[in-house]
Amino acid sequence: MTDDPNAALKRQAAEAAAALVTDGMAVGLGTGSTAYFAIANLIARVKQGLRITAIPTSERSATQAREGGIELVELTETTRLDLTIDGADSVAAGSLDLVKGLGGALLREKIVAAASAKLLIVVDGGKLVDKLGMNAPIPVEVVPFGWRRVAGQMAELGARPVLRLDPGGSLFHTDGGNFILDCHMPPIDDPAALDSALQSIVGVVETGLFISRTTTVFVADPAGVRTLTP
Ligand code: A5P
Repeated sequence: MTDDPNAALKRQAAEAAAALVTDGMAVGLGTGSTAYFAIANLIARVKQGLRITAIPTSERSATQAREGGIELVELTETTRLDLTIDGADSVAAGSLDLVKGLGGALLREKIVAAASAKLLIVVDGGKLVDKLGMNAPIPVEVVPFGWRRVAGQMAELGARPVLRLDPGGSLFHTDGGNFILDCHMPPIDDPAALDSALQSIVGVVETGLFISRTTTVFVADPAGVRTLTP
């Protein structure tokens, strides 16, 4: 991750959020290059004696956390996470609604966010937008069977869905074995309505639109880290 020009900013945002983790907490661990730094920070503190349990949002984050010595636990019917620290692909200024899932982990990310008392989002300033849809497509996880039909219904909603491939050109599969359709859209006026419309398509597993879920966004710019609340 050292060749990422935004790595220093991502680290600052991630560490500002990770500082809110205290002894005894149950923590959701996000996915992506920014959440990576939050997990790395928690690993360092666990080695110094911090006691936490955690639930990861991807196999990648699970591996990082496990190898670093963070105790991972299962999500059960009684799980209540104190907070989750995760990245985002776009953050709508004002509402702090999110687009997530360019890293492919949107389903587990949304499940873990739903089990958390607080969702702390860590980003560099380039992720802030006036309207969602402006700088990133909306990733939507779909079951492989019948995906072309699903894509056709997305197009009727004004999207241009693109089946995601991995960097080698093979079909991308999520941790759950599904496909992702990246829905390129004009700027979105009503993300909640779009989310409902996408969710109503049979074959859609989950969308990367995170509506009214954000507690705090930690935004790192060259001037420093600021926090935003909805
Ligand atoms: C993973 O599925 C995503 O939701 C990531 O949280 C998001 O893509 C942000 O990743 P970066 O921090 O790498 O930009």
